[in-house]
Amino acid sequence: MKILITGGAGYIGSHTCVELLNAGHELVVLDNLSNSKHAAIHRIRELAAGPLEFVKGDIRDTSLVSNLLSQQCQAVIHFAGLKAVGESTQIPADYYETNVSGTLSLARAMDATGVKTIVFSSSATVYGDPSTVPITEDFPLSATNPYGWSKLMVEQILSDLAQADPKLSVTLLRYFNPVGAHPSGRIGEDPNGIPNNLMPYISQVAIGKLPELSVFGNDYPTRDGTGIRDYIHVVDLSLGHLAALNAHHDQAGRYVYNLGTGHGVSVLEMRNAFAKASEREIPYRFAPRRPGDIAACWADPSLANGALNWRAERGLLDMVSDAWKWQSMNPQGYPD
Ligand code: NAD
Ligand code: WQD
Repeated sequence: MKILITGGAGYIGSHTCVELLNAGHELVVLDNLSNSKHAAIHRIRELAAGPLEFVKGDIRDTSLVSNLLSQQCQAVIHFAGLKAVGESTQIPADYYETNVSGTLSLARAMDATGVKTIVFSSSATVYGDPSTVPITEDFPLSATNPYGWSKLMVEQILSDLAQADPKLSVTLLRYFNPVGAHPSGRIGEDPNGIPNNLMPYISQVAIGKLPELSVFGNDYPTRDGTGIRDYIHVVDLSLGHLAALNAHHDQAGRYVYNLGTGHGVSVLEMRNAFAKASEREIPYRFAPRRPGDIAACWADPSLANGALNWRAERGLLDMVSDAWKWQSMNPQGYPD
């Protein structure tokens, strides 16, 4: 099947492209390279044979998107967007413009060209501060920052569109904490500047680019006092998209799934696992809690396990080993 992949040069998109090509799909990748490099496309092509057309452009350009979709595309996987929580509080209009207006532009183009299947990158952030864990899909939804609101708004918009069009298939995938890299070490996460997220921060301490890890809070009500999250290997996450497409392509309706492992890992456990796998020192110090952080968050992935016949199979050792392989083979990230 020919699929439009928005944001396919980015971290999760690039890994998903490899798995889709390996499964025999034909891809059109649309990315404005605002948070990625063209080198990622070369690396995807190196890792997986098969037809991939790359177009540098913006999802807000509705006529461009319509033009691409009209070339026999049958489905869209929609990764393109801005994703930094802190930055979203500084430049909220950019976040709503890209994430919300961008999705509306895509929806208009799908409508104009009769493409009826979309898989959307949502986030566990839509659960806000959950009252209990593990989290099931029917938990209350909330947001505390413009990034989270943009994900909730897009979920609502796509749900309304599915309600209005009996032929539309909308799948909302709520990712927990994607980490790791392709086991080849050729594609991975390449953040701009100092990373906000734990795994790329630890990687850069291990390689010596950053001096030490600040562990945000050691007084949470968790087993070692540090925050607990459901880290999921990016290859497992990518395979979740393939499973969603297989299950719901051309099956009209609105579907929502947690993509997580169902297991929580603390900040210290992650730091220790990474130090062991990399055989590097990872100095750390305890710092105050980061505003907006929650104590613990992990998924109940049983809905996806059953309905999609999918399950996260890679463990913590795979996550840290593959992240370290990517970091050590590409200490400066992708070449320009
Ligand atoms: P990423 O920044 O690596 O990838 C996003 C891609 O979209 C980038 O290549 C960027 O250049 C592109 N892009 C941005 N604006 C665009 C536009 N207007 N037109 C075309 N392309 C555009 O991010 P990622 O980590 O791969 O995340 C992919 C998606 O998954 C995002 O929607 C993100 O919000 C969501 N998500 C990510 C995480 C995470 O922790 N990484 C967790 C939950 C959900
Ligand atoms: C994980 C844990 C931190 C950095 C974010 C977004 C979420 C989703 C995934 C997009 C927490 C601790 C972190 C550091 C630390 N993205 N930490 N020192 O906050 O769970 O989720 O990314 O949708 O929306 O909010 O991920 O990796 O930033 O933090 O101690 O330098 O690591 O306090 O407990 P988070 P994270």
